Formats: sequence, C-alpha cells, structure tokens
Amino acid sequence: MARESESGLPIEPVYGPDALAGWDPAAELGEPGGYPFTRGVYPSMYTGRPWTMRQYAGFGTAAESNARYRRLIAHGTTGLSVAFDLPTQMGHDSDAPLARGEVGRVGVAVDSVEDMRVLFAGIPLDRVSTSMTINAPAAPLLLMYQLVAEEQGVAAEKLTGTVQNDVLKEYIARGTYIFPPEPSLRLTADVFRYCRAELPRWNTISISGYHMAEAGASPAQEIAFTLADGIAYVRTALAAGMDVDDFAPRLSFFFVARTTLLEEVAKFRAARRIWARVMREGFGARDPKSWMLRFHTQTAGVALTAQQPEVNLVRVAVQGLAAVLGGTQSLHTNAFDEALALPTDTSARLALRTQQVLAYETDVTATVDPFAGSYAVERMTDGIEAAARLLMDRVEELGGAVAAIERGYQKGEIEQNAYRIARETDSGERVVVGVNRFRLDAEEPYEPLRVDPAVEARQTQRLAALRAARDQPAVDSALAALKRAAEGDDNVLPPMKEALRERATVGEVCGALREVWGSHRPPDAY
Ligand code: 3HC
Repeated sequence: MARESESGLPIEPVYGPDALAGWDPAAELGEPGGYPFTRGVYPSMYTGRPWTMRQYAGFGTAAESNARYRRLIAHGTTGLSVAFDLPTQMGHDSDAPLARGEVGRVGVAVDSVEDMRVLFAGIPLDRVSTSMTINAPAAPLLLMYQLVAEEQGVAAEKLTGTVQNDVLKEYIARGTYIFPPEPSLRLTADVFRYCRAELPRWNTISISGYHMAEAGASPAQEIAFTLADGIAYVRTALAAGMDVDDFAPRLSFFFVARTTLLEEVAKFRAARRIWARVMREGFGARDPKSWMLRFHTQTAGVALTAQQPEVNLVRVAVQGLAAVLGGTQSLHTNAFDEALALPTDTSARLALRTQQVLAYETDVTATVDPFAGSYAVERMTDGIEAAARLLMDRVEELGGAVAAIERGYQKGEIEQNAYRIARETDSGERVVVGVNRFRLDAEEPYEPLRVDPAVEARQTQRLAALRAARDQPAVDSALAALKRAAEGDDNVLPPMKEALRERATVGEVCGALREVWGSHRPPDAY
C-alpha cells in the first residue's frame, strides 16, 4: 500500500528497475553544474566548498545585533543574515505610532544609515556576504548597506549579499508589503537595474517559498508558486527593457526543508530542473548562470514544538541533512528553542554546530548529489516536477502570478492544504512526537531570552538625536527629488541613496514613496 507524500503523491514501499524504465539520465539529470542542473548548480558542489552557514539573526538595537553577529562569526558562521523588526520591514520609523511595542522585537531596528553603521561595526563588508530579509523597503536598506561599505572603503563591485526583495510572496503569505503590486514591481526592477550597474555581485532578490510552506503549502505548491513568482519578476524586468542575461544570473531563491527528507531532496532537484528549462526554453536566456537556480534553505519553523523542545534538535538535523542532500547553497538551521522565544546564545551556537557536524563529521560533502539514479528519489523528483508544472500552468491560465494573487488563488490553495495538515494532526494521523504521541505528563521549565523593553526608548532617543543633528533642508530637498523620480520613470535608487546619505530615515523614504504610490489594500478575503 503506497503512502502519500506531503505533495499528495504516492511513495511506493519498494521501487525497482521498472521505476526508471525509459528514463534518460542525460536529459533528466545532465552533469553536476550542467544543464538542467538537477544534480546541483556547481560541478564540484560541496567537494569544492561547503554551503554557506548563514544563521538568520537580529533583535533589539543595532548594537545588540552586532554583538550577536560577531559571536556567530567567532563560532564559525560563514554568512550573515539580518532579521529586521516589523517597523523596519513595514517602512515605519521606531518613533512612529504604528511601531509601538514592536521596536527591536522580531528583529533589529534600523531607522537610518547610523544604525546600519553600528550594525556592521567591526565587520569587514568585503569579507562577508550579508543577506537582508527585507522586502518592500529593500532598496533603502540595500543603499544604507552600500553607504556603510563606502565608509569602510569597500569597492561596490566587491560587495556580496542578498536582499529578499520578494514582495509577491508578501501578498501571498507573509504580509510585510507597503505599496500596491504595480509600483512594488517597478521598485523591484529599479533594484535589478541599479545592481546591474553598481553592485554586480549582489543577489537582487531571494524569491521565497519558505513562508508559503510555513503557511501550509505542500512541497509541490511551494516550488510551483515560488517559480511562478520568479517568472513574474523576469517578465517585469524584461518589460522594463532589461536583457534576461543582464539580471537573471543574480536572481536567487529561498525554500524550506521539512523533516520528510526524501521528498524534500526530490523537491529541490525538481525545482532546479524546472527553472533551468523555464529560463533556457521559455525566456531564451543564453548565459548558463541564468539557468541556475541557486537557493538558500531554512529548516521548517512550523515543525518546531514547544513541548520537549530538545527533540527539535533531531528535527533540525534531519531537515538540515535534507537541504544538503538537495544541494542548497546556503543554510539556516533553526534553534531548538525557537518555538518558545528568540534563540539564546547557546541555542544559536548549537544550531550552527548542527551544520558543522553535517559538513565536517559526515560524508555527505564527499560526493555530488548522492541520490542521482535512485529508483525512489528520481521517481519522486519526476512526480513533484509534474505536480508543480500543473500548478504553474494553472497560475498561467489565471493570467500569471500577480493576477492569480489578486484573485487569492495561491493563498486559497495553501490554506486548504494547511487545513488538511491541521486536521491530520488533530486526529493523530499525522504524528508530532511529544505533541500528539510520546507526550510527557509535565513539561520541564525553560528560561527564554527576553528582549529588553527599554529598547524602544533607546532607539527613539537615537532617532531624535539624528533628526536634530542632520541638515534638514538637505534632507527635504533630497526627499523631494526622490518623489519626483517616483512620479516619473527614472530609477528611484540614485536619489534615494542621496537622501539616505543625508540621514533621511527608512520611514521618511518609504513615506515619500507612499505619498506618490499609495499603500496596498489586500483584496477581500477569498
Ligand atoms: N564551485 C565553484 N564556485 C562556488 C562553489 C563551487 N562548489 N560554491 C560556491 N561557489 C562560489 C559561487 O559562485 C559564489 O561566487 P560569486 O558570488 O562570484 O557568484 C560564491 O562562491 C558564493 O557561493 P554562493 O553564491 O553559492 O553562496 P552564497 O551563500 O554567497 O549565496 C544565495 C547563496 C542563495 C545565492 C544567496 O542569495 C543567499 O545567500 N541567500 C540567502 C537568503 C537568506 O539568508 N534568507 C534568509 C531568510 S529568513 C526569512 O525570510 C524570515 C524568516 O521568517 C524565515
């Protein structure tokens, strides 16, 4: 009796040679680092260089987060990943009424270039790649990072990192959007064009499926809706007059790693093959770097339990292994206590050590794509590819990702799957160790890390001092120039950079754009 996978596909109890009858490895796999990249984006993969160990972190003020980054670097992390607080992500300053109670809570508060300078104090920006989980205000945060790099004397062409900059998934699953879809996509294209000209090694977008998965998407839905968003971004940049090979090599992706390891490995391999064919066959991209789906993975936050939290260490290790066997370029492993609170220094270090055990104590870095040719995993890869293609075709029938979003299609599909998962968990059909089976009579006490509530007062004092010290007429003039660019077709990033250099704040920059573009109002619930 076949078991059903997370994508609703059969997993046979036994696979044999007939599973791959007529299957053409040359066409379906190619060589590692070669089209269609099923086996991985680089010829040598981890035999050449382990994936980037990139732990997502940020809380409180820039000084507190800077200390956490320096400790993570000391423990061996090889990439930084900034978590911003909600006011920053929504383009509001820490002293805005809407920011009350959120400053520094789920991430670091960054209002100005002065905060960005503190955030990276003592960290050489030519020697680290930094990911910033910032979407609607990705442009101002990127520009402040570049301004700080300039102050450090780092040449723009050396600067490496990523802004998430993926507003479409915010409309689907995460919610930190500001502007309506059309100006949001214009701003995305402006970032692409600016980076092409000024920051050639910067990854301009991290097209994300993670948050859809966390909202309940199946693996097939996760890659289908993410790649459909990717197609919408490619079309946007082409419509803005860019050549596909001018921006596609710097697109990147972000997926989840669930505990269902075999299907997750198949999911990553299928996603690479679909994207390679979409870019070469669909958009006629000629540069092999345009065909490569490079991605970051985070282990599944929703799989973490508050009950017996130490059991999460095992889940994260399995999920991290799935991402590595699936060929991820960059990985964040969750801390075991994150279902309870922000990670402590100890739990954050343990999360990183999990990656280091995978990289240095196992043999999974000794050979590329070890599941290649596996009866089971190749069948599962084909199965997920077919299921994802059907969903992508449906999005196309609805007029593409933006039109489908405006009809609530992706959100509706994900919510239905989330309901199925919840029903199966409640019935016990879906086992969650420690929660609906193998429970303890009494949970042991746990002391979480708490963010100092005085953070908000300290941050708003910094902001008041910044506003008092800056050249206000220069700020006003720079913001007026930004608004003029937003009203026209010129790229908004150059005037935005000058405003930020004059210490305009994130809230003021986004406020200027809101005055021109308005704010997005979601369609009625589907
Ligand atoms: N052979 C040859 N070259 C290799 C190689 C190999 N085996 N391995 C790596 N390299 C090279 C690469 O070509 C690259 O060189 P380049 O920059 O000149 O092209 C360099 O080494 C770095 O390698 P990668 O680019 O593969 O790895 P990075 O870690 O630098 O980049 C990425 C990975 C996916 C492309 C990038 O976009 C990235 O880092 N993304 C991270 C996104 C992230 O951290 N998101 C966090 C989200 S958290 C969130 O959303 C909120 C919460 O709610 C979940």
